[in-house]
Amino acid sequence: MSEANPPKSAPLSAATTSTSEAADGAHKSADAPASTDKTRKPRVAVLFGGRSSEHAVSCVTAAGVLSAIDRCKYDVVPIGIAKSGQWVLAGGDPSSWSLSTGRLPEVEAAERTVSLAEIGGSHQLMVTAPNEVPVELGSVDVVFPLLHGPFGEDGTIQGLLELSDTRYVGAGVLASAVGMDKHYMKVIFADAGLDVGPYIAVTDRQWTNDPQAVRDSVAALGFPVFVKPARAGSSMGISKVDSLDQLDAAIVQARQHDLKLVIEAGITGREIECAVLEGRNGSGPRTSMPGEVVVTDLDHAFYDFTAKYVQDNAASLSCPADLPADAAQRVRELAAMAFEAVGAEGLSRVDFFYTPAGELIINEINTMPGFTPKSMYPQMWAASGLDYPELIDELLQLALNRKTGLR
Ligand SMILES: Nc1ncnc2c1ncn2[C@@H]1O[C@H](COP(=O)(O)OP(=O)(O)O)[C@@H](O)[C@H]1O
Ligand SMILES: [Mg+2]
Repeated sequence: MSEANPPKSAPLSAATTSTSEAADGAHKSADAPASTDKTRKPRVAVLFGGRSSEHAVSCVTAAGVLSAIDRCKYDVVPIGIAKSGQWVLAGGDPSSWSLSTGRLPEVEAAERTVSLAEIGGSHQLMVTAPNEVPVELGSVDVVFPLLHGPFGEDGTIQGLLELSDTRYVGAGVLASAVGMDKHYMKVIFADAGLDVGPYIAVTDRQWTNDPQAVRDSVAALGFPVFVKPARAGSSMGISKVDSLDQLDAAIVQARQHDLKLVIEAGITGREIECAVLEGRNGSGPRTSMPGEVVVTDLDHAFYDFTAKYVQDNAASLSCPADLPADAAQRVRELAAMAFEAVGAEGLSRVDFFYTPAGELIINEINTMPGFTPKSMYPQMWAASGLDYPELIDELLQLALNRKTGLR
């Protein structure tokens, strides 16, 4: 595939770093936008798949982005991450990653792998295979990590890219890690003055050493509760628990995804979401018109994985949400506050419960929200005047124009 075989030994971009620059230490940063070489298009590595339980969702997102990214403006290198963690050059046909094939897509591990390698003081993508001379993929100007869940959306890939001074779309290390952890995001939201529902965090040690204390704390929250892995997504491992006798089974299920849990009091309210984009040239975050998720199939107790991705028509997304103007405005202000509270960059989707009493209780921030053309984040921007290809372009431009290093 053409995008899988870009020219070897392409010129180094401004995103890479010489050894002498590296000597500047922690304050090293590159102010100049990436790809100062005007003789070629910026090269974008699209990373997808990954080690988390949201692997398939990431592949579906990649199908959408690979179909819509402007190939006249960008040179695209699709890189799949297998569930084993191995990076492989991925086929260029986006439809192979969509859900329309009737199965959940998956990146297969392969002998020929891709890695970030240091060559002459700079970092480049290399393709290696047993008993073969490594092949340089050339410099990459920007990485688009379309990864959901742990080892992708949680600061780990971001840390790898920071170490190699490679620009990337979206939140940095800290914001990604906080946005992945349903416990710490609440700590930060509460500190920023956002309304957070009642919850407890349960560590592996607490559950293992004293499960009865955990059960007592949950009973004090009142039922129903939502039992969640602290660091997962796409509703994986989440159960609604209506009584104490269902609790242990829900905890066992959530612990299959993460040994750390968050258990929340159930909140009655409409699910209202807002898309946030980093501002341009130092201005504050931009917010979309809010949207609403309505679970229409009553077989689903909440917005679960099947309602999100598998069963058509189990849930409807409407944008703009039918809200009083002052509530819609408040959602936008709170979404921008949440974005700034965690120090997000690039993009985030911020989700709220809008209670019958008119309160807006924050549920979560997603620093790499679902991003297929049908997903809420792009739909909210489309309703606000920015269509899917324009949104992809805007995210890449934000990333290409940002500093590397501490910023
Ligand atoms: N405290 C809660 N009260 C009521 N419903 C909840 C609560 N927490 C989660 N839900 C339901 O479960 C869904 C998934 O939970 P969420 O925390 O958003 O996890 P994920 O990160 O997997 O999307 C929500 O969209 C909502 O339908
Ligand atoms: Mg959610």
